[in-house]
Amino acid sequence: MKLNTNYRNLQTSYLFSTIAKKVHTFSAAHPQADIIRLGIGDVTLPLCTAVTQAMHGAVDEMGKKETFRGYGPEQGYAFLQTAIAQYYARRGVTLELDEIFISDGAKSDLGNMLDLFDKDNTVLIPDPVYPVYVDTNVMDGRKIVYVDATEENGFLPLPPQNVHADLIYMCSPNNPTGAVYTRDQLKQWVDYANEHHAVILFDAAYEAFIGSDDLPHSIYEIDGARTCAVEVCSLSKTGGFTGTRCGYTIVPKQISADGLSLNAMWLRRQTTKFNGVNYIVQRGAEAIFTPEGQAQTQSAIAYYKNNAAQIARVLDDLGIWYCGGKHSPYIWLKCGMDSWAFFDMLLEKANVVGTPGAGFGRNGEGFFRLTGFGDAQRTVEAAQRLKEIF
Ligand code: MLT
Repeated sequence: MKLNTNYRNLQTSYLFSTIAKKVHTFSAAHPQADIIRLGIGDVTLPLCTAVTQAMHGAVDEMGKKETFRGYGPEQGYAFLQTAIAQYYARRGVTLELDEIFISDGAKSDLGNMLDLFDKDNTVLIPDPVYPVYVDTNVMDGRKIVYVDATEENGFLPLPPQNVHADLIYMCSPNNPTGAVYTRDQLKQWVDYANEHHAVILFDAAYEAFIGSDDLPHSIYEIDGARTCAVEVCSLSKTGGFTGTRCGYTIVPKQISADGLSLNAMWLRRQTTKFNGVNYIVQRGAEAIFTPEGQAQTQSAIAYYKNNAAQIARVLDDLGIWYCGGKHSPYIWLKCGMDSWAFFDMLLEKANVVGTPGAGFGRNGEGFFRLTGFGDAQRTVEAAQRLKEIF
């Protein structure tokens, strides 16, 4: 028996598991500490009523012989695919239903999608970035080249000259920096991908936080994207589904290589290795896209963005550089020191948990991420504590 020794090249534990362990150790040693968690981007508001009512209705259907459902389609029910297609259509993006695959979230699909790509591909990843993009490729032993996201380029790097890539990861609004690409900038990436016959894996998990029609929510708002981009999206942050689990991935039919269609391959992969998302959750997800669900989820998003604004206000007062927050739940601040040392200091002195920038890559060193996903009052309290230690 031989093991996948690429695992030797990973950090021993996943970033957010390391943080959870550190916080657990600290709270065991300081049981009185009133810890405020603004680390992992986990939502704190409950599911909205449009979603819970739809799920209750689905539970009742499952309890009656006439409406009970067994195995569902692995790629998702047509009612949810239709709701998603209509959501995209409102922004002028036309999708065919069989280009939309329902999943249990972006993280799984981002990892599973790599089944379709040979090990012998060069992967281009912005640094800093959501660690899943890097770790899933390290597990497979793929060559990774990094493109620097820095304070100078507003954490929005553009395609590098004279560098070839086969797979490109992008996340806009970005995790961890909260920076958002403009249409012109995304067009440069789409052109680069088409020139290199590369595939962009576009993570749109935070698209619902965009508060301006001038900024693109989807890569398919850009001409040429259908021949080079897969879009992965999660309802975790849009609909508070971190515990409920539902997302979707769009694989356009135009992407192909070596006589194989990526869409057909993904269908083959999912029907073989994935059981689909349960009916009750899919009915809940469908409700997010109704007018009522949209109003209710947008009100939760406004609440989280207001939290980010409260943190931003304190940073403004302190004269600390940051980005994000406006079209994103994340605030990316310049802590000006080793980011793990800042993590420890913040935890010890203010009992506030954040995420060290170094956990997202080399260029994250000296930066720190706070989330707006907390409770509003607790976030104000955390911001106040931040003020006291700076
Ligand atoms: C984060 O905090 O970066 C995210 O919540 C992680 C995730 O979505 O998996």
